[in-house]
Amino acid sequence: MIAMRSLTAVVVVVVLTGCRGDASDAPPIHINPNMDWQERFDPQERNDFFADGRAMRPPVAGTVARGFLREDTAFHFGRDAAGAFVAANPVGLTAEFMERGQERYEIFCSVCHGDAGDGKGIIMTGNYGYVPAPTYHADAMRAVPDGYLFDVISNGVRSMPGYAQQIPIADRWAITAYIRALQRSQYAQGTGMASSSPPSAGASSAK
Ligand code: HEC
Repeated sequence: MIAMRSLTAVVVVVVLTGCRGDASDAPPIHINPNMDWQERFDPQERNDFFADGRAMRPPVAGTVARGFLREDTAFHFGRDAAGAFVAANPVGLTAEFMERGQERYEIFCSVCHGDAGDGKGIIMTGNYGYVPAPTYHADAMRAVPDGYLFDVISNGVRSMPGYAQQIPIADRWAITAYIRALQRSQYAQGTGMASSSPPSAGASSAK
C-alpha cells in the first residue's frame, strides 16, 4: 500500500513538473542520435576545397550511367562503326520476336501506316489532314536497309515523329522485322519461299 502511494506521488510530481510550459534554449534530449549529425555537404552547398567552390561534383569524364553503355552501334543506332546503316536486323529472328513486332506495330504504327503497311491507317482514311503515310509496298521501301527502318522509328523522318521515347530499342528491331514480314506478305516471290513455289509467283500489289 505504501509502495502504491509513493508511486502515485512520484507520478503526480512528474506530471506536474514535466510540462512547466517554460521556453528553453537547451536542445531537446536526443536519446539515439544515430547519424543525425554528421560531417557532410548538403545539395548546392559551398565547398572551398574545390577551385569552383561547389560541393556537388560533376561525374568523372567518360562516366556512363548503368544500362546506358551504347558500344554496340548496330543494335543501339542501326549503324555500323563507320556510321552506315546496317543491312540486317542485329537481333536474331524468332517467332516470338516477330509476334512482339506485330503487337508493337499494331499499337504504334497501324493507326497511320495500316495493319497491312499500305499507308491506309485510320488516321489516313479518316481524312484528318495529316501528311499521308507512305506504303511499305514500294520498291524504294523494299530496298532500304533494316538500319534505315530502325532509324525512322527512332528518330522520325520529315513529318513523322520519332518513337525513341515510347518504344524500347529491342521493340524497334522487332517492329523492323515485322515490317519486313509485311513487305514479303504483299510481294511473294518464288525464290523467297522456303520450300515450294506458289502457282503464280510475282508482284501484283507492287506500287
Ligand atoms: C501519326 C502517323 C504516323 C505514325 C503513328 C507512324 N508513322 Fe511512319 N510515317 C508517317 C508519315 C506521315 C510519313 C511520311 C513522312 C513525310 O514524308 O513527311 C511516314 C513515313 C514512314 C516511313 C518511310 C520513311 C521514308 O523514307 O519515306 C517508314 C519506314 C515509317 N514511317 C515507319 C513507321 C513505323 C515503323 C511506325 C511505328 C513505330 C510509324 N511509322 C508510325 C506517319 C506515321
